[in-house]
Amino acid sequence: MELEYDYGALEPYIDKKTMKIHHDKHYHAYYDNFMKAIEGTELEGKDVKEILSNIDSIPEKTRTAVINNGGGFFNHRFFWTILKKDVPFEGEIAEAIKEKFDDFEEEFSNAATTQFGSGWAWLVLDNGELKIIKTPNQESPISKGMIPLLTIDVWEHAYYLKYQNKRPDYVKNFFNVINWEKVNEYYMEAK
Ligand SMILES: [Fe+2]
Repeated sequence: MELEYDYGALEPYIDKKTMKIHHDKHYHAYYDNFMKAIEGTELEGKDVKEILSNIDSIPEKTRTAVINNGGGFFNHRFFWTILKKDVPFEGEIAEAIKEKFDDFEEEFSNAATTQFGSGWAWLVLDNGELKIIKTPNQESPISKGMIPLLTIDVWEHAYYLKYQNKRPDYVKNFFNVINWEKVNEYYMEAK
């Protein structure tokens, strides 16, 4: 469970210290607690994606722990992959976004800044349709049958060290670190 790029790779938009704590402490804690929650249950050994895609099958007494920690594990694992600096907005996903949204940046930012409290904003494919959604806490779109293409973590731990209470500034800068090549790859896979 190592980050596949330097902690400082997204500077100055997302700072090194935040990345290190976010990845090594928060993400790892979700993973560890997810593993504990499924240990000794029928879910042991299954991938988190499979488990979260079918939350009704999670035994009731561990369901909340699995959704919170498995969601934290899955959502972050996905998030790390869509971050990269200076990737041009192009490819089929760019065309599809321009066709679907009048102002994607504004609509996505709006979802990210208005998610009350902790959570995530997402670009997903829902039955083949591009949609911007938000999820509270560690809920994941895969539990609603949607395919994630892009996400922003708006938990305070994702930005507070650098941005303090200014979530909109963090969201604005996030557009400099979207790995559109990866998002396009997810889009092509999902189509
Ligand atoms: Fe996070």
